[in-house]
Amino acid sequence: MANLKELLIEELQDLLHAEMQLTKALPQMAQAAHNPKLKEAFEKHLAQTETHVERLDKAFEFLGQKSQPKPCRAMAGLVEEGKEVIEEGKQKDPLAADLALITAAQKVEHYEISGYGSARSLARLIEAREVSHLLDHTLGEEEAADFLLTSVAKPLLQEARLAEMGATEADLELVRS
Ligand SMILES: [Fe+2]
Repeated sequence: MANLKELLIEELQDLLHAEMQLTKALPQMAQAAHNPKLKEAFEKHLAQTETHVERLDKAFEFLGQKSQPKPCRAMAGLVEEGKEVIEEGKQKDPLAADLALITAAQKVEHYEISGYGSARSLARLIEAREVSHLLDHTLGEEEAADFLLTSVAKPLLQEARLAEMGATEADLELVRS
């Protein structure tokens, strides 16, 4: 039992550091986004991410632990890649730059989804119901964020496809409206 609780705490420390890094990265991604819906999705997720940090603080409280991050190298790598995508995007056309940003952001979401899923399983196993409830709530929001990114990407992909097929700017304007 004690070992599972320790595992859960380590996982939460990792997630806390991941979320803290994201609160710094998401404003840069929002700033780099050209598409207004994508910008909005990043801004919305920034607000959610701040809540995710608060929920993790609460989870530590329920477990009688000090809220403390443990360096999450995976998120550091993903954020580093995100920065590269932002830099490289400056040389790309807006559509390609936005699509690359979405890809980077979905990698982040998938990492978080797996982390929260594992942490929730551990919380359930040791019957830490309040903690599992908190993690469940955040997991739902990460999944919704991923879903939102997929739906923002769809028309952009369609637009990119049409442009490749030789559609004119006027045709594309029709697709956008
Ligand atoms: Fe999050």
